[in-house]
Amino acid sequence: MSPHPTVISQAPWKKTFEEHLQHIGGPSAEFYLATVTPDSQPRVRCCIHRGFWAQLPENKHNQLPKNPAIYQSDCPVFTDDARMEKTYHIFATGKGKGSREQSGGGPVEAVYWVKDTMTQWRIRGKAWVVAADDVEGGEEAQNSGTVTVKAEVGRYMRPVGDHETKNSEWSWKNEVENHYENLSPGMRGSFKNPPPGHPVSEGKDTQAGEDLGQKGGHLADEDLARKNFRVVVITPEEVERVDLSDPAKARRWIYTLAEEFGGPGGNTDGKSNGTEWNETETWP
Ligand SMILES: Cc1cc2nc3c(=O)[nH]c(=O)nc-3n(C[C@H](O)[C@H](O)[C@H](O)COP(=O)(O)O)c2cc1C
Repeated sequence: MSPHPTVISQAPWKKTFEEHLQHIGGPSAEFYLATVTPDSQPRVRCCIHRGFWAQLPENKHNQLPKNPAIYQSDCPVFTDDARMEKTYHIFATGKGKGSREQSGGGPVEAVYWVKDTMTQWRIRGKAWVVAADDVEGGEEAQNSGTVTVKAEVGRYMRPVGDHETKNSEWSWKNEVENHYENLSPGMRGSFKNPPPGHPVSEGKDTQAGEDLGQKGGHLADEDLARKNFRVVVITPEEVERVDLSDPAKARRWIYTLAEEFGGPGGNTDGKSNGTEWNETETWP
């Protein structure tokens, strides 16, 4: 379990970041995600931001029952395929180093460029991989990896609203199934693709249902997609905001989660902003 207490306050950068995200597609904003290979090589790829963990974005095509709105977090979320390289990097560079009993925690950096506001956001932290089947029920559910991911992501989940009475209704599995349901049928179908990155010459497992260009229904009914579909949660520790809107005076701010909350700590410019985050303005 994490020795660090729950982060109680909304991060001081989140409101502006959310406003900026609206300029680049909100819950479908593109960003670039860097991971590190086990031999310390950088890898970067484009991904789609799918909102913040426990704050599922509205989607009129998604008719599934939703979790009660009793948590907020500052953790960006994206969807991922268990068979992709980034998943392996996140596991192999996390603390448990690829053992079956851990759920990632590898270092990542996510970069968002918001041209309308001339701002670059860089979000550094750890990434945690969540599967619908592992996280609740089933024989995997209580392995130490699941316990770790729930503790590490859980301490970023701020209780709000009716938390006291509705706590037991909130389900990790439901949240993952809703993220799948928030995708278009074609995107859902991509989790039934032949194995990403494998040579085409090796063919595909048609028996298992692998093929390109398929559509997907509900995750609960999709055995193959369920095996492959993952939600990745980034737990931020350091955020950098560079504002280039004034050519004569570029500005840069660094926000660091305090050490007692598991972050790197850092400069505060001698003042507190009343949150668990330190904040400093640097030369750009
Ligand atoms: C616009 C765009 C959005 C993408 N969004 C995602 C995404 O949200 N999740 C994802 O796993 N891959 C996404 N991809 C594909 C990745 O860029 C990448 O090709 C894939 O994840 C395999 O990378 P990996 O083997 O390094 O994991 C997207 C690609 C593009 C061009």
